Amino acid sequence: MTDSASRRDFLKGAGAAAAASTLPLSMVKLAFADPAQDFTFAYISDSHIQHIKGNEFVRNWDRGLIRAVAETNLLRPKPDFVMFGGDLAQLGTKAELDHGAEMLSKLNYETHMVMGEHDYYLDLGEYWSRLFGDQHYSFDHKGVHFVVLNSILTFDEWTHERWPTPEQRMLEMAALDNPNGSPFMVGEKQREWLRQDLEKVDKKTPLVVFSHSPIQKIYKGWNFWTDDAEEVQALLKPFDKATVIYGHVHQIQYNQIGNIAFHAVMATAWPWPYPESYAQAEQHMPVLTVPMNRADPFFERDATGWQFIDVATGRVAMDYNLYNNTNRRVAFDATKGHPVDTAYQAEADRIPPQDHY
Ligand SMILES: [Fe+2]
Ligand SMILES: [Fe+2]
Repeated sequence: MTDSASRRDFLKGAGAAAAASTLPLSMVKLAFADPAQDFTFAYISDSHIQHIKGNEFVRNWDRGLIRAVAETNLLRPKPDFVMFGGDLAQLGTKAELDHGAEMLSKLNYETHMVMGEHDYYLDLGEYWSRLFGDQHYSFDHKGVHFVVLNSILTFDEWTHERWPTPEQRMLEMAALDNPNGSPFMVGEKQREWLRQDLEKVDKKTPLVVFSHSPIQKIYKGWNFWTDDAEEVQALLKPFDKATVIYGHVHQIQYNQIGNIAFHAVMATAWPWPYPESYAQAEQHMPVLTVPMNRADPFFERDATGWQFIDVATGRVAMDYNLYNNTNRRVAFDATKGHPVDTAYQAEADRIPPQDHY
């Protein structure tokens, strides 16, 4: 699937010559699903809308979000809903959240929001909640149970006592590699809510969990990490089909831990570079079990964009719509039992699965 072909297929009016048979979605439907069960939703994340002064905002970040909203509105087939994966704002101010909400309001679909640390740590989510509602919740759609978690909470002492001002607290959490930061967590209270929520759900029901930070421990140095990931994973374990979709890392990642498939989404703002190594012993738990197909971190707009998601028979196929690079598709492969990138780049460029530390 080429970039232009897949983009044409999904954008109304563009490239009418593209044959419907080239739809990547149809490959999955043929392979796995009762087509009547399929649906798609779109995922936009990490726009980091940044206020300068007055009516001025960082233009590049605005444009990333505006483009994602516009392209999502042109999707055919129409997505059933849109997820926004967190970090709408850069420093969590009213001006940023209002401006971001205004841009998101142009979406023609129902939109569900996930809390990011950049949205949260100025006023501990107060204004965000006023705009968007609950910070964790669940909903059912066409036989799939969806859960949204606020995964970016941390210790009470760090949150309430350590910093003299909310602004400083926000800045300390906003930095990528700041040793003054604090590990993210879902926390006991929310885990108990999740336990009760999932108790009512048949374990054969496909389960999709949305979080901002990964519910797996990828790289602690940069807080690509959720401290109570194992406890949350344990709650997802009884389900036949479980998927976690997260933002925050601003890069394409996927993994499989037991029954749980993990997919990261891209940012509309900027791509994070890759940590020096994902294989540092103390930092890397658990191992990545699937080879990583990397984008080019030196290509300015590479690995920014948004994605649409095909939920075929409850398994997730993630189509990455990149702004300046070849589109990518990572789909759960039932024969392999984990997500697979459908077009691998050169073997030498991949990060291999890590068998040992
Ligand atoms: Fe982010
Ligand atoms: Fe984040």
